[in-house]
Amino acid sequence: MAKVFNIGLIGCGHIAETYFRAHKYFNNFKIIKCADINKKAADNCAKIYKIKSVSVNELLKDKDIKVILNLTIPKAHYIIAKKSLLNNKHVYSEKPLAINLKDGKELIKLAKRKKLYIGNAPDTFLGGGNQKAKELLDKKLIGKVKFGNATFAFPGVQSYHPNPEPWFAKKEGGPVIDMGPYYLTALVNLLGPAEEVRSISAKGVDKRVIGIGPKKGKSFKVQCPTTYFSTIKFKNGSIIRVTLSFDVISHLRNHIELYGEKGSMIVPDPNMFGGSVLVNNKLGSSWKTYKTNNMKLGKINIRSQSSRANESPTNANYRGVGLSEMIFSIQNKKINKCNGSLSLHVLNIIEAIHVSAKKNKAEKITTKCEKPKFFTNKEINSIMK
Ligand SMILES: NC(=O)c1ccc[n+]([C@@H]2O[C@H](COP(=O)([O-])OP(=O)(O)OC[C@H]3O[C@@H](n4cnc5c(N)ncnc54)[C@H](O)[C@@H]3O)[C@@H](O)[C@H]2O)c1
Repeated sequence: MAKVFNIGLIGCGHIAETYFRAHKYFNNFKIIKCADINKKAADNCAKIYKIKSVSVNELLKDKDIKVILNLTIPKAHYIIAKKSLLNNKHVYSEKPLAINLKDGKELIKLAKRKKLYIGNAPDTFLGGGNQKAKELLDKKLIGKVKFGNATFAFPGVQSYHPNPEPWFAKKEGGPVIDMGPYYLTALVNLLGPAEEVRSISAKGVDKRVIGIGPKKGKSFKVQCPTTYFSTIKFKNGSIIRVTLSFDVISHLRNHIELYGEKGSMIVPDPNMFGGSVLVNNKLGSSWKTYKTNNMKLGKINIRSQSSRANESPTNANYRGVGLSEMIFSIQNKKINKCNGSLSLHVLNIIEAIHVSAKKNKAEKITTKCEKPKFFTNKEINSIMK
């Protein structure tokens, strides 16, 4: 029987429901208390999930809690993670690690000094889709990856989010901080660390109108660029063009395409766990499909659309696996998969994209990380119910 760690949740917003649902799949954690800067949000969450709501400070000092689950907004990730570590708790945060590299580096240093674990979403790269792509790449099905394209583009959250302003704020806004972590972590998982970034950005419109909730019809100012075209050179020589945009009404571009010396591969949505990998080895021939719906973390478990948790109607969503794997790693003295150096490296790429676009010149990536290892069935079995 796996040893169950007690978790204290800070940040009782939209994504929290997904982590409570993760209790169904993983065997080694239990969220026992919650807190939020907004007491009402914490009380509401406590009522729904029949747990105790306390203040943020009480939670941080609670002797029964080993790990803090930090589901606050991106600009609060740093301070909550820092306070968790200073209170001798391991911490697992939603993406990104922080909103700037300096803060991210400080967190990693602090965790090392305190001999505590730091873990960070996204954990979607541990899902069937990205792992199947990794397996096929490692088997050299398309040979060495020379080039590729990754695209995330949609019109922005203002139509369906009652408080969309943070997505368009000066420091923590924009599509690179919001959606970049999924795409960049998936690419690092497949290709290894990045070396250099060149980027160009633009702001689609100066004002947006809120489409839902009490502020419906109110317009607000867009304070950051909302479209980025970036070219990332990886240490292994692959060059990938990444489009991240809040200015596109609709499109039919694939999420990630990789072009190798022996063929091309389509990698499924890195914001989700499942989806099929497609491979084509000859111009004009049909694409071969590699399904992932029989894989443990690719099996469809979602059958209804939820914009609260970013879920499409039928898909696999096993968010929380990164937290569970971190707990297993703590208990077995291993390096966790969604670890600090991976999330710091991804934050480094995010910042480099921003800086490169601003300065109109190439930016070197200065942090290092290991290319993540394959998530084996044995490892998955040890944490799943
Ligand atoms: N909603 C999604 O679909 C989704 C999906 C994946 C990841 N995420 C990530 O999860 C995180 C949370 O997203 P969300 O959509 O749940 O946001 P949200 O705004 O719905 O909830 C965030 C909560 O954190 C609280 N909070 C903010 N600052 C705090 C602080 N300093 N101390 C304590 N509480 C604080 C807020 O009061 C709020 O209740 C973000 O990092 C986001 O990128 C969200």
